[in-house]
Amino acid sequence: MMENPRGTLPEQSFYEQVGGEDTFRRLVHRFYQGVAQDPLLRPMYPEEDLGPAEERLVLFLMQYWGGPRTYSDLRGHPRLRMRHTPFAVDQAAHDAWLRHMRDAVDELELAPEHEKELWDYLTYAAAAMVNRPG
Ligand code: HEM
Repeated sequence: MMENPRGTLPEQSFYEQVGGEDTFRRLVHRFYQGVAQDPLLRPMYPEEDLGPAEERLVLFLMQYWGGPRTYSDLRGHPRLRMRHTPFAVDQAAHDAWLRHMRDAVDELELAPEHEKELWDYLTYAAAAMVNRPG
């Protein structure tokens, strides 16, 4: 095996450090169980079947954290703020979205530094997605 210059193991992506695809699938599956029960969020999802939306979010998050780039192969550039403009993401929707995400993150039982990094990103991204006053 070739030694790398610093004599350390090659750095792993966050995606790999937290357990790869399985971890992101558990996260997003748990999140959508919450969405399915949510009287505010559920009607916002255009499709009867939440499965395809679940798959898009899984693939996006895997890609964002350094995993396979399948999301962009299938969907192109994420442009997430633009893709959310048809949906009324106000403060209440933002809060509900993050509440289900918080439950889902808690169930992963990640190392505290990983949990913080993931949660900081999710809260930042959720705030950026708000596109309606109120
Ligand atoms: C803040 C509250 C949010 C609400 C209420 C919301 C709601 C929605 C809805 C209704 C859809 C359409 C479902 C579909 O057919 O795919 C969607 C899509 C999506 N959302 Fe959100 N979202 C929120 C925040 C976020 C955040 C923070 C992220 C990323 C970290 C995100 C990532 C995505 C992705 C990747 C898609 C699919 C985009 C595509 O490829 O078409 N969303 N969201």
